[in-house]
Amino acid sequence: MSVTAPPARLAATDVTALRARALGVLKANWRAGRRRVDGLPYAYTCPSTPRYRHQWHWDSCFHAIAWSHFDPARAEAELRTLLRSGRPDGFLPHTVFWGWPAGWRRAPFYATARLLGATCTETIDPPLLAVAWERVGPWDDAAALGQIAAHLDWLERERDPDGDGLLSIVLPDESGLDDSPKLDVVFGHYAHYKPSTLLLIEHCRRLGYSARRIAACGELHVEEVLVNVAYALSLHAMARMTGESAWALRAAATERALLERSLDPATGLFFDLAGRAETPVRVSTWSSLAPLALPGIPVDVKRRLVEEHLLDARRYRAPVGIPSVSMEEPSYTPHFDRWRCWRGPSWVNTAWLLTPALRELGYEADAERIVASLARAALREGFREYYDPRDGSGQAAKGFAWSTLLVDLV
Ligand code: GLC
Repeated sequence: MSVTAPPARLAATDVTALRARALGVLKANWRAGRRRVDGLPYAYTCPSTPRYRHQWHWDSCFHAIAWSHFDPARAEAELRTLLRSGRPDGFLPHTVFWGWPAGWRRAPFYATARLLGATCTETIDPPLLAVAWERVGPWDDAAALGQIAAHLDWLERERDPDGDGLLSIVLPDESGLDDSPKLDVVFGHYAHYKPSTLLLIEHCRRLGYSARRIAACGELHVEEVLVNVAYALSLHAMARMTGESAWALRAAATERALLERSLDPATGLFFDLAGRAETPVRVSTWSSLAPLALPGIPVDVKRRLVEEHLLDARRYRAPVGIPSVSMEEPSYTPHFDRWRCWRGPSWVNTAWLLTPALRELGYEADAERIVASLARAALREGFREYYDPRDGSGQAAKGFAWSTLLVDLV
């Protein structure tokens, strides 16, 4: 029996169905009200109920981009809620508890200042706010841009303790890639899915979540590639929105640091730099490819990432989406794992970041193939948290809002 591969392009009717279902998920996950403790208004999309009820920073950036296709006012409201979630010094949290406090069973796993009554975590998420604002918000809103600038300045001041242009993270989930096997190498017994992660959170709490203090007294910190790609993308977005060249210079400094320190000449991959010795973490995960999205990375470096990794059938070229870990890695696990994520399955935000870069480099058909494979999986299985790269079966959370980013890709 001959098997015919599905056409690369989606039919117009599929695009229409995908958009209708995406809007359904975004509407179902929309939450608006006033915070009980201080009356502060909020409006955001929760990632998925019942598991993820709060506001996550980078999720909201993705949600706003998806909303911009349907309801620009909601997109803007979601980002303004993020801006209200922080502190006057520019800090913006990883998770914000607007409508409910963190449930008693989950509360200990959130990196908050105190165990009970906190309204947000003291940690960061990949800083994509300027990227989302560029797509959604009014560019001439000086107050909002001032707040986003203060956030980027806070990151530079507080999260680059050695001043090398690369931000550090102090807890695994600050990368957004919670249980990625690359983070096992850095955090060992304290990895996100291990019970001792509670001790690591307590350690950070005692040190006031200060990266400078944490870096000075141990090895449990890492200059993580994805966070720095998000940071550089945001700096570029600020340059375009404000017309100020200082932002472009800062973006270029981070891109240069990634090239000089993170890029591994032997494999052509970008590796995280762990601890005080900045030891490269030699595990190939999709974040090793994320610098593809940066304008300042030379084309030959990008082509190598694409040809030797992203489009290599032994590594990242899978039937559905882009696996979160190279299929060649011993830790690669394509199926659902109740306790751990980011160890193999394909996520939509990965394709969202990498396929525009593929198109720009001229790999149009491959970009199309990746997007269509995920869109077909979403039409069949719903907007799931992630998909099995072998057959597209939907895994983990249902009605997962950032998977609606597909409407930005089709
Ligand atoms: C998972 C993901 C993280 C996301 C969160 C909320 O923990 O690993 O990236 O922000 O869910 O959706």
